[in-house]
Amino acid sequence: MSLAQRRILLGVSGGIAAYKSCELVRRLRDLGAEVRVVMTEGATHFVSATTFQALSGQPVRISLWDAEAEAAMGHIELARWAERILIAPASADLIAQLAHGFANDLLTTVCLASAAPLYVAPAMNQQMWAHAAVQANVDTLRQRGVHLLGPASGDQACGDIGSGRMLEPLELREAIVASFGNAVLRGRKVVVSAGPTYEDIDPVRFIGNRSSGRMGFAVAEAAVQAGAEVTLVAGPVSLATPPGVVRRIDVRSANQMRDAVVAATAHADIYIGAAAVGDYRPAEVADHKIKKRDGAALELSLAENPDILGTLAAQTVRPFLVGFAAETHDVERYARDKLARKGLDMIAANQVGGGLGFEAADNALTLYGPDGAIELPRASKSELARQLVAKIAERYVAVRG
Ligand code: CTP
Repeated sequence: MSLAQRRILLGVSGGIAAYKSCELVRRLRDLGAEVRVVMTEGATHFVSATTFQALSGQPVRISLWDAEAEAAMGHIELARWAERILIAPASADLIAQLAHGFANDLLTTVCLASAAPLYVAPAMNQQMWAHAAVQANVDTLRQRGVHLLGPASGDQACGDIGSGRMLEPLELREAIVASFGNAVLRGRKVVVSAGPTYEDIDPVRFIGNRSSGRMGFAVAEAAVQAGAEVTLVAGPVSLATPPGVVRRIDVRSANQMRDAVVAATAHADIYIGAAAVGDYRPAEVADHKIKKRDGAALELSLAENPDILGTLAAQTVRPFLVGFAAETHDVERYARDKLARKGLDMIAANQVGGGLGFEAADNALTLYGPDGAIELPRASKSELARQLVAKIAERYVAVRG
């Protein structure tokens, strides 16, 4: 289960169940979510903004008229930022405001200004919940596609017993996790390689390449989000491990990467080779820094590196293999050639240059498999990685069950 980098806006309205929302913020963040809290004025009578600020690690917004906060992240930006809006607890008053489209405070304004799916967890006295006015408002929201979470029945803070209790934080979290789609790779072990390799020439020099590792890291993160148990084998990059990755192995050279990948894939279901592995290394690594010899050319003799995907493909029991092909020209021809030559299940090909590929924020891919090509048009690397992992999962399930 992961909510890695998911952006969740938690709306807290005035009700005693607001104390449970503190726990909810923790539990959402445990799964890697970014949480921003918007409180109604009523909510501040139950829990202080400082509490939510400390738990979310983000400034808490209450008023629409807070000029300083608006300058930092305006309410429209906040509405666009959110991938999900969860209102917990949702009081009878807040539900009424939502049902009638009011925008008389920050939370209700953000709800109207956002295209994000809205999840509402009512919490109120059982008599209030049963009231025809509340039920009519709830029906209106349902018809409009708002997702109602609960309420549950049981003991209430006011001493009554009945329906109107807010769902528990873990139940609410589960609903939000489920809202991001089914975990297509749940229970699958996935190994992702990422970044460049460095082949040492002498103690201060190396042969490397311009891979930033961002595409591979985004793929690792997307695989986590799809429910996989992910091991990331990383070449020399300065990137933080995506939340939820169970193991990261840092390597430098192609040989080290081969050893790490072979060991990590021993029990893996899928290997995604997003690393830009150097094809050659200096045949000998000098012990001392090589000195310049004025006027004389320096010749480096290079030895071929092992082909990691090729090594895995040659095994009798092998994971589902996905390669990458970054090409400057003739993308399709080279990609199809690599698919066949390396014995892969799929290959993701991309054109390098023109603002795409290495060192760029965006990328575009074409996926080739035995049954044709799938275009994944230009998008951020994280969005593209999500689509790529979904396609890999589809194909994996089709051929391996
Ligand atoms: N790859 C690998 N081991 C290598 C070289 C590449 O596993 N020694 C993998 C990469 O991780 C990538 C794919 O093979 O998934 C394509 O890499 P690329 O360097 O483009 O392929 P090459 O076979 O080296 O072809 P060329 O350099 O001639 O384009």
